[in-house]
Amino acid sequence: MKTKSETIFVCSSCGNEFTKWQGQCSFCGEWNSLKEVSNKFSSTDKKGRAKTGRGMDLINQTPTVVNLGKTKPTPGPSLENGGENHGVISTNIPEFDRVLGKGVVQGSVVLFSGEPGIGKSTLLTQLIGKMGGLYVSGEESAEQIRLRVERLGLDGNKFDILGTNSIDEVIEFLDRTTNVYKIAIVDSIQVMVSYAEGFGSLKTAGSPAQIREATFRLVQLAKNKNIAIFIVGHVTKEGEIAGPKLLEHMVDTVLYFEGERSGDLRILRTIKNRFGATDEVGVFRMEEGGLKEVRGEEINLTETDADRVGAVRTVVMEGTRPMLLEVQALVVESFAPMPKRNFVGVDYNRGQLLVAVAQKYLNIPLYKYDVFISVTGGIRIEDTGADLAVVAAIWSSFKETPLGFAASPSSKEDRGLEKGRNNKYVFFGEVSLLGEVKKIRGWEKREKEAKSLGWKIVDIKNIRELK
Ligand code: TYD
Ligand code: MG
Repeated sequence: MKTKSETIFVCSSCGNEFTKWQGQCSFCGEWNSLKEVSNKFSSTDKKGRAKTGRGMDLINQTPTVVNLGKTKPTPGPSLENGGENHGVISTNIPEFDRVLGKGVVQGSVVLFSGEPGIGKSTLLTQLIGKMGGLYVSGEESAEQIRLRVERLGLDGNKFDILGTNSIDEVIEFLDRTTNVYKIAIVDSIQVMVSYAEGFGSLKTAGSPAQIREATFRLVQLAKNKNIAIFIVGHVTKEGEIAGPKLLEHMVDTVLYFEGERSGDLRILRTIKNRFGATDEVGVFRMEEGGLKEVRGEEINLTETDADRVGAVRTVVMEGTRPMLLEVQALVVESFAPMPKRNFVGVDYNRGQLLVAVAQKYLNIPLYKYDVFISVTGGIRIEDTGADLAVVAAIWSSFKETPLGFAASPSSKEDRGLEKGRNNKYVFFGEVSLLGEVKKIRGWEKREKEAKSLGWKIVDIKNIRELK
């Protein structure tokens, strides 16, 4: 009998397995992506007998269908266009529909990823509560789910729950109940293992081979049975090895649910969408009774109107919507051999560039200062439109002065006069390497939003004018 090596190497980008380490994955071309993983939870033990799935916490060894109310298969969810089947079903949650394109496409597979505890199970329970369908839970007990359903005020008659972490049982159950469910949630892919023979080479929950194989089978099922399947995938900040990244090419749509767990704001983004645009976002707030949609055109995350040292307001675009934020900076003398650069919500390289531009054109010796930057609401800014706000916040902190100055900086008196007062200025614009402030995408929308709140837009051509 062939002996198996104790460890194998798995590409964290595409999931391919290798017996030896190599610098570049010969399958997807990614560098330094191979990680050593244990191979000891293989499908057979030393004597060649099939294992029963040790090496992981089994929550539900046997499948249980928990009907929260009467046993009644879900009626088909309401279809768009007065019931006419265009293959797209509205989720009845407009913020969710917006991100999906129009709604859930029948027979499609959506990977729903996010950090643990961010609210994936909550939002998907709400979704299935509104649309009906099957919720497969491999992580939580029936009792836990029942409590959540109660807390969310959902009607348990509208959907069914299957408690199992066996992918075989999920497939078998959906096979058997053809045409009963249009939508199924699988929570989460990391715990879905197979006890059947010949299922991949690894049975460890969360291993790349396991999640890839389980996903593959769910994708096949979705296409064959025309069921839309939402697959929950946990990702960690550190970029876990068996992260859902390697599943992205297998599914139709990839959504990412993000936010700062300490805050209540959550943003649902499209990373990939075979059926629609990828620049839309859905915005929610985590409340006592679940996730509430943040509707309307504008999203205001500024904490206060007051003008404070090191804090400036800006408007970024999230999809087609303006979002009002506050950027904060702390610039302090450094005692470290290398001054610290700590940016939360701002891309590290972009932040470095803006620090350098500020140093040069505002003549401030930032090479001997630590610079900390953060953005309110746990939002990650990906929009260069916030550049000017970052530079302005750095300047304000360095000068220890609130940035209340006239929108027309040509008038020095105005600047002096208005300094420190609550003038509600807002800063946006991309900053070039020359310190120039450039107009960016969505300028008019940003202007309109700022004005509707009574904010004045700082209109400068070069960051030098901040001085
Ligand atoms: P959960 O959906 O379990 O996260 P995930 O599935 O992504 O791991 O949500 C976890 C957090 O959400 C938990 O800390 C409690 C909070 N929460 C609320 O604040 N309100 C609610 O109504 C619910 C159901 C959860
Ligand atoms: Mg969960």
